[in-house]
Amino acid sequence: MVQLPMLKGLSAREFLARHWQRKALLVRQAFPGFQGLLSAAEMMDLAGREELRSRLVLRQGERWEVRHGPFAPSVFRRLPLAGWTLLVQDVNLLVPEAAQLLANFRFLSYARLDDLMVSLAPPGGGVGPHFDSYDVFLLQGPGRRRWQVSRQRDRRLVEDAPIRLLREFKPTQEWVLDAGDMLYLPPGYAHDGVAVDTCMTYSIGFRAPAWQELAAAFLADLADQVDLPGRFGDAGVAPRTEPARLPADLVDDAVRALARVRWSGPEVARFLGRHLTEPKAHVFFSTPSRPLSAAAFSRRIARHGVALALPTQMLYGAGRLFVNGEELPLAGLPGSALQRLANDRHLSGADVTGQQLDDLLYAWYRSGYLLPEAASGQPGK
Ligand code: SIN
Ligand code: CO
Repeated sequence: MVQLPMLKGLSAREFLARHWQRKALLVRQAFPGFQGLLSAAEMMDLAGREELRSRLVLRQGERWEVRHGPFAPSVFRRLPLAGWTLLVQDVNLLVPEAAQLLANFRFLSYARLDDLMVSLAPPGGGVGPHFDSYDVFLLQGPGRRRWQVSRQRDRRLVEDAPIRLLREFKPTQEWVLDAGDMLYLPPGYAHDGVAVDTCMTYSIGFRAPAWQELAAAFLADLADQVDLPGRFGDAGVAPRTEPARLPADLVDDAVRALARVRWSGPEVARFLGRHLTEPKAHVFFSTPSRPLSAAAFSRRIARHGVALALPTQMLYGAGRLFVNGEELPLAGLPGSALQRLANDRHLSGADVTGQQLDDLLYAWYRSGYLLPEAASGQPGK
């Protein structure tokens, strides 16, 4: 079993058995020498981008305020010296190094991965004691942050606060994290991180679908798929003496008809594949402004390979490949190459074989879903 320094020398299997969803884990120097991926100026720049979700949490004594981005640079020039935190989510959608950082967590399913969020705060800054419904790895960038945590059951929140704040926080453990240290917290763990110095924290978050939300999305999806021919008929009906009464035969027939709406395991799997790869509302794909011809694209990828664009989400299962909310049957396609592309987010030139694969990759290239790699190994244009 490979022992991973980023998991305190545990193997992925041991970490998953002992800590994942169960127990916090502090790892000193999980990423030795990690000094973050962004300067404060770069982060403020990202906070101005439409396609990322950013928030500014401000605190004055007991008064909290949240402002939602995108933020103009002038916002940051007017910030007070203390009492604020800037949070930028989905940084992995725009910053290649952020996506590379996430690759360290590929022992977890992409179906669970949410995003990389970065926070920036002056000394004393933080978002207050709270709990999340996500699994999170809190990786410290530059500066130090003091984390206090508790497994308390009391999850009551402060009423009318603009952010989720625990009414009573009773920390039982405390650590100061330095650059490169990482703290894993399972969902529901109460925590409070306060910047000791001006600091940046990188949160790698893993979502778990909430059944209620999933059901609502599933039923909406089902509405598009359902095929229920026929309609109610009341030939031979007796005269209605109470025309306002809901007819019992209508109710009975509707119950029978709706009971014909059924779904199978593979249909649920296909829904999950589409749903979990559906781009978030603010995401868009940049299509090539001067696209290569199909022939030039084929030559280029045969030499250097292809990489998925940062916002592309790809999963597979139930005999299908799911790409950014769309699905296609794997039967008849070069399945192993496509599965490799989904897992590694990259295919080498040697892996790109056959016209069929070329055509598919070219269509995705034109949609902005992937890019040919440049000679440097970096995605090209
Ligand atoms: C932060 O980085 O300041 C907040 C992260 C969290 O508590 O989830
Ligand atoms: Co949190």
